[in-house]
Amino acid sequence: MNILTFDSSEQLNEAGANIISGLVQTNPRAVLGLATGGTPVGIYSHLVGDYRRGLVSFRQVTTFNLDEYVGLPASHPESYSSYMQRHLFGHLDIPADRTYIPDGNAPDLEAECRRYEQLIDTAGQLDLQLLGLGHNGHIGFNEPSHALLRGTHVVTLAEETRKANARFFPTLQDVPQQAITMGVGTILQAKMIVLVVRGADKADIVHRALTGPIATECPASLLQTHPHLVVLLDKAAGSRLA
Ligand code: PGA
Repeated sequence: MNILTFDSSEQLNEAGANIISGLVQTNPRAVLGLATGGTPVGIYSHLVGDYRRGLVSFRQVTTFNLDEYVGLPASHPESYSSYMQRHLFGHLDIPADRTYIPDGNAPDLEAECRRYEQLIDTAGQLDLQLLGLGHNGHIGFNEPSHALLRGTHVVTLAEETRKANARFFPTLQDVPQQAITMGVGTILQAKMIVLVVRGADKADIVHRALTGPIATECPASLLQTHPHLVVLLDKAAGSRLA
């Protein structure tokens, strides 16, 4: 694993965007696994800058998002579909039919999970998976548990996760109870994983995930087994690492 710690948020954003732009420059047909939440916003805005400066084109790229809430209309401002449009897709030349996000409003959620997994299989291996980290060690919405599922599945969100995400909603009650998420097996199959973490409030979980035992109770600890893991941290998030 390669851990890089940055003095400023801007440097971290630039490094994250450079990894993605560099991959797409060398492989214009790259398959990217993307994340949402507060963490990647600055990286996405830097990527948009790269695109606007003509450094990179996303015309042939395919993307798969990690997760989506169940039951929020796609047009809801906090759906991950809206988020991706607002922060990234709406500013790039990527065709809409190459950007995949699970449909959290599908009438049959289990069938939707199977369909999504099949789409990823058909696209081939993810060349890169971008990840944030939950305070409880979740990746995507794979919450701590005595067992983790390999493929895309429906999850009940941990209370801690709903509370953390309540900052994006009018009240805690408005945060959905369930989501569809890629499984850890799908995530770990990516050729390269870029884990991004910011903030002192995540220093403990960064330490546990990267140096603690590999255990399903801390899903991010499974990333220690990945042969090509790059970790981008700001100083505060990396403060408990030696
Ligand atoms: P955040 O969420 O980027 O909004 O902190 C990360 C996560 O829960 O995976």
